[in-house]
Amino acid sequence: MKITKAVIPAAGFGTRFLPATKAVPKEMLPIVDKPTIQYIVEEAIDSGITDLLIITSRGKDAIVNHFDKAAELEAVLERDGKTELLKLARGVTDKINVYFTRQAEQKGLGHAVFCAKSFAGNEPFAVMLGDDVVVNDEKPCLKQLTDEFERLGSSVIGVQRVGRENVNKYGILDCEPIGDRLYKMRGMTEKPSIDKAPSDIAALGRYVLTPAIFDCLEKTEKGALGEIQLTDAIVNLMETEAVYAYDFEGMRYDIGSKQGFLAATVDFALKREDLRGEFIEFLKKTVNKEK
Ligand code: UTP
Repeated sequence: MKITKAVIPAAGFGTRFLPATKAVPKEMLPIVDKPTIQYIVEEAIDSGITDLLIITSRGKDAIVNHFDKAAELEAVLERDGKTELLKLARGVTDKINVYFTRQAEQKGLGHAVFCAKSFAGNEPFAVMLGDDVVVNDEKPCLKQLTDEFERLGSSVIGVQRVGRENVNKYGILDCEPIGDRLYKMRGMTEKPSIDKAPSDIAALGRYVLTPAIFDCLEKTEKGALGEIQLTDAIVNLMETEAVYAYDFEGMRYDIGSKQGFLAATVDFALKREDLRGEFIEFLKKTVNKEK
């Protein structure tokens, strides 16, 4: 079955990025000149997604405005013949249907995904975290996962190795390799300590899930950090369905962390023909000063 629906949970407080996130959603922080969430929406479009639900919360109206049509701005740019700027202002609005719902209380990622129950209906769907950007110019990360889902007919989680020293930041898998980049899951623990982690294979912000996840989410109690964790619901799902993990190819940036945001800003700027030359000169001078 083709995956055409995706959910972007973007309701979190973003405390790691305070004070910026007091009034600006972290998903709207620009990487060079484009909001983080737009990169994720573009990945969804390039992966064949036609319908997208963004889970927001109080104070996240900038996300809703960003995906709305800016009629007055477009009229002025059109009148002045500024076609390139007009294209940028239009963005992705005519390429995908974007819907919004609010998570009234930030009870955790699992609870945010549960807010998509009626949107998903009886269809499998993708989950793309609003602060995880993955770059793969040949095959988008989500497309890699939806292809695996279509082949296997069961839920697939996007993973990569993160090194043992980082396991306490992620949902960590207990799994066995069964094919090229593919694992069958046996278990999963949210943010384990280094000595308790079953591996260093981490879930990194991309999932393709069957609708059976909603029954599991409904039964899931508060877990790590006092939040309803998607990880715990996936563990329940494993009792009734096979769940797979796919080691996707691509560079992943955690925009919700300062280091991830800075790394993305530098890497994306270096890829831009209009910025690259001058920026490299600046970086060289700055790095030399630091030596
Ligand atoms: P994070 O773990 O990054 O939490 O959530 P956060 O609140 O956004 O950020 P910090 O840790 O306080 O800095 C992972 C993803 O789940 C969403 C977030 O928006 C992010 O995309 N999320 C988290 C929700 O939508 N609702 C929640 O209740 C929690």
